Amino acid sequence: MSIIIDTLRESALHIDSLLKDTSTSYMQSINVSGDTQLEIDVKVDTFLSEKLLNIPCVKAICSEEQEEMLYSAHTNAPYIIAYDPLDGSSLIDSNLSIGTIFGIYNEELNAKNLIASGYIIYGPRLEMIIAQEQALHYRYNGSIWRNLGALQLNTKGKINAPGGTQKHWENKHKAMIESLFAQGYRLRYSGGMVPDLHQILVKGGGLFSYPATSDAPNGKLRKLFEVFPFAFVYEKAGGFAINGTQRILDLEVAHLHESTPCFFGSQSEINLVREVYE
Ligand code: F6P
Ligand code: MN
Repeated sequence: MSIIIDTLRESALHIDSLLKDTSTSYMQSINVSGDTQLEIDVKVDTFLSEKLLNIPCVKAICSEEQEEMLYSAHTNAPYIIAYDPLDGSSLIDSNLSIGTIFGIYNEELNAKNLIASGYIIYGPRLEMIIAQEQALHYRYNGSIWRNLGALQLNTKGKINAPGGTQKHWENKHKAMIESLFAQGYRLRYSGGMVPDLHQILVKGGGLFSYPATSDAPNGKLRKLFEVFPFAFVYEKAGGFAINGTQRILDLEVAHLHESTPCFFGSQSEINLVREVYE
């Protein structure tokens, strides 16, 4: 396991440098989830898949940018890594933070088999969260990765990060979001899952929602590459992740690119979501 984490740490430095010197022009390609791919999405994906497939304890990998799972030469190895190489890459031209999300699964691609997860965040600083027993926060200081300690959510926060297009929200969702603002919650939303969820974690609490909408009844965010890894991080930080009524990490996966509505937050906000959605 530590060799996987070390590889991701080294990869973070390389991806960070690629982001600083590669053009962000749109390629004429669409990935399996229907997103327009940038040249940099493909570069980072190719780089990570080669690195991860070389690790002796890795049996297979799957990427948000690729339709099928890719198998390594290590057929008896235990781990499968699912990753989103560059989450939020459409924000690059506006120079907002973006990230890489990863989940490490033991033997099978199932939420119950997730044994570690985390993300890299490329912003003014280069940081990485690695969740195993705890959700540890690391920052690169130019020569080493400093451990800043474990992330821990309070039972109630102040941030409201509502994803999805408002005109496609259900009325009950709209009312819930408005009720949070009426209580004094502040809007903090960039449109990148990694910085939006990271902000809630470092500020101690709040709610991030990406609900079912009339144009996307299963939500937009993908279970294996985005939602399960973040659910694992949130739970290790003392927070919660649900699809409205069920715990995210109890959900099954029907196919690699399946999405789900999702709500991440601290106890008080997730209790509210349960009341509204149950
Ligand atoms: O990868 C999906 C993503 O870019 C997330 O980072 C983000 O939370 C979401 O899509 C935003 O989607 P939209 O702007 O389409 O609502
Ligand atoms: Mn993504």
